[in-house]
Amino acid sequence: MTQHRLLPLMILAISSTPGVFQDSALSPTQEEPGVLECGRPEPSARIVGGSDAQPGTWPWQVSLHQRGAHVCGGSLIAPSWVLSAAHCFVENGTLEPADEWSVILGVHSQDGPLDGAHVRAVAAILVPENYSSVERGADLALLRLTAPAILGPAVRPVCLPRASHRLAHGTACWATGWGDIQEADPLPLPWTLQEVELRLLGEAACQCLYNRPGPFNLTFQLLPGMLCAGYPEGRRDTCQGDSGGPLVCEEGGRWFQVGITSFGFGCGRRNRPGVFTAVAPYEAWIREQVMGSRPGPAFPAQPQGSQRGPPEPTEENCTIAQPECGKAPRPGAWPWEAQVMVPGSRPCHGALVSDSWVLAPASCFPDHISSDSPPRDLDAWRVMLPSNPRAERVKRLVPHENASWDDGSDLALLQLRAPVNLSAAPRPVCLPHPEHYFLPGSRCRLTRWGRGEPAPGPSSLLEAELLSGWWCHCLYGGQGASVPPPRDPPHALCPAYQEEEEAGRCWNDSRWSLLCREAGTWFLAGIRDPLSGCLRPRAFSPLQPHGPWISHVTRGAYLEDQLAWDWGPEGEETETQTCPPHTEHGACGLRPEASRMGVLWPWLAEVHVAGERVCTGTLVAPGWVLAATHCVLRLGSTTVPYIQVYLGRAGPSPLPQGHQVSRSVISIRLPRHLGLQPPLALLELSSRVEPSPSALPICLHSGGIPLGASCWVLGWKDPQDRVPVASAVSILTPRICHCLYQGILPPGTLCVLYTEGQEDRCEVTSAPPLLCQTEGRSWVLVGMAVRGSRELFASIGPEETWIAQTVGEAHFLPPNGSPNWPPEGSDLCPPDMAKASGSPRAALFLLLLAPLIQS
Ligand code: ARG
Repeated sequence: MTQHRLLPLMILAISSTPGVFQDSALSPTQEEPGVLECGRPEPSARIVGGSDAQPGTWPWQVSLHQRGAHVCGGSLIAPSWVLSAAHCFVENGTLEPADEWSVILGVHSQDGPLDGAHVRAVAAILVPENYSSVERGADLALLRLTAPAILGPAVRPVCLPRASHRLAHGTACWATGWGDIQEADPLPLPWTLQEVELRLLGEAACQCLYNRPGPFNLTFQLLPGMLCAGYPEGRRDTCQGDSGGPLVCEEGGRWFQVGITSFGFGCGRRNRPGVFTAVAPYEAWIREQVMGSRPGPAFPAQPQGSQRGPPEPTEENCTIAQPECGKAPRPGAWPWEAQVMVPGSRPCHGALVSDSWVLAPASCFPDHISSDSPPRDLDAWRVMLPSNPRAERVKRLVPHENASWDDGSDLALLQLRAPVNLSAAPRPVCLPHPEHYFLPGSRCRLTRWGRGEPAPGPSSLLEAELLSGWWCHCLYGGQGASVPPPRDPPHALCPAYQEEEEAGRCWNDSRWSLLCREAGTWFLAGIRDPLSGCLRPRAFSPLQPHGPWISHVTRGAYLEDQLAWDWGPEGEETETQTCPPHTEHGACGLRPEASRMGVLWPWLAEVHVAGERVCTGTLVAPGWVLAATHCVLRLGSTTVPYIQVYLGRAGPSPLPQGHQVSRSVISIRLPRHLGLQPPLALLELSSRVEPSPSALPICLHSGGIPLGASCWVLGWKDPQDRVPVASAVSILTPRICHCLYQGILPPGTLCVLYTEGQEDRCEVTSAPPLLCQTEGRSWVLVGMAVRGSRELFASIGPEETWIAQTVGEAHFLPPNGSPNWPPEGSDLCPPDMAKASGSPRAALFLLLLAPLIQS
């Protein structure tokens, strides 16, 4: 039961003569002589127009216990009969034994000894034959008691409607029970029966509300025999533990049980009213089951003059409720932005989550994180809210139970002395339910959070775009970490945002919260995880897991269903994926197989030399790019050119805004080399580039070519437009290579053979790199193009020591221990090879044939 009124704890005395019905309870109804009087509580205890309920208001309400604990509700319909829901008793298609169950009658508050209440054992449980699961309907059950209930002021049967009984939609009815007061939030002690006023919803209107797609397409078809009650805006509903309990409507001075609590999607959610089993259609079934039992349930005729209302339109038509949270006039003007002023410290930034609660980091209030005593100076604390001239006073501080400095539970709730008027501002932000999945590509913003050092610029305007969970997990997660599919709760949210706004500095001490927008509504999606250091993308701890705690404490925070459900054309990312291996320096060579957004080649660098020429570079460490010496240094030139490096520019789709990174080169390092110009140059960048999906180092490999790898030359079709192209190649064995280019190759040169038709895909003047993807799915840099050649590459392997010493953080994958080349029979080259070297394909053909010819 959500949005309840707590009832005073009081238990009425009931008749003490077991097995004897009080005379008043036996007065026959006008239609069915000999049948029990029904649906009339004690006159003094009637609910009229929403006054406080009292014990005895709902005397037919029973609690069904299984092995001693409350499981479901039910209603007394005759001294020996209780009506409830089938799903309470059917587990995996089988009916549970009746002797596990007992019926508690005349109970109001279930705490302690059930004074005044009495208990009956269950002789039989009857469920319609066609019941299979709640969504398929027929969710009702009859319980025959081993002995009749003792009727009295607190124990009376309810009236049942006849099959022809009709109620207008919009009729106000009441549901009762001891169920949860919110999703996953059990009724607190003393477990007093809850009541809630619900309005009957027309079938078409209910179906229309449920047709709104929900997260993971959770919709359902309303079937005959079901009815809905509640409100489009939610907030009042039944919940777990109320099942089987009655939905009653008053007509002509009697209470008729119109529905049986059956199910719903969540509890009290917007556009998801509770679904009940309609009782009227089951008149015949009920009569059949109780046949011969005296006195049986009463089915009084529908009182005359009760309004039947206009016939319901059969068309789908409903007023869909809009979220009441998360509306901002324009990004950056956050109507929920709250500043908590504690004497003696800087203001702490938080967010308004309901009319009387503010969420802020617990670390703003260090003295109170672990102490149970309320702050002594709470009187002096103030909360400033937008467009609110008053400084609000604080009534209570509730730190998260595991609040600590450094994780996602660094949260506290502050209750205002008086609720504020919610209007355009202040207005609360929306909070996600645990199953919320923020889609990759979501538009987000970073906002101030807590007391951190502010970053330069209007931080609330820091725009961000959510990356797929793959990046978050594979950059941060350990080796072989598995990426949870969207259905699982995320461990981290990673927004990509413009580096320039941070002025190249890692504002590690600044605290942020992450707001993400769905269908024009802003959610507080996460808070910055201070442990994520300066890695990019920054990881935010999702707020999803804390929704239940926040609603438990606040009883009115705006948890809101997911509002955007674009699962992409292929419904991507529904399977668990694993991340490629990491090196001791972290992730390298990551490249998602399919990415809806972002850069395809995060290590591909555009190297602009003296503003006139473009070379291909490869990021090998956060501050280093490897390039072909001949491309960046002109032979014979004595001056070091001005070199600028761009990362995150390459990609077939337009890059998320702010993904580009540029650095100037402050030094060029060459390995010691005998005489000749060494083929490889390391370019030292003016500052580090933090790993991110647009700029991520590639992996290196100490021993030649990784076994089982597939290899590619990665360049541009045209260095002017710079759309990266990868040409598939095979790397030839040293012997074949040597034979093809007899004598002319410096040691450590690799020869490649292009896959048919891939030869001319990229040009070579920019000196493209040769890459391989290992069996473990990491990408490895294997060589850099030799001047003027399409087929020859200077191998990285021989320069391992030089690279490792110069760069420090180069990502060398551990050697996989297998030989790089299959053993080759002979060192000799076939005589015709040299002549064929103009055509590698022809030469290779010769070479491969040679062993056959020789034998
Ligand atoms: N199936 C639940 C139970 O067993 C009742 C859920 C009612 N939910 C709702 N949103 N109305 O107690």
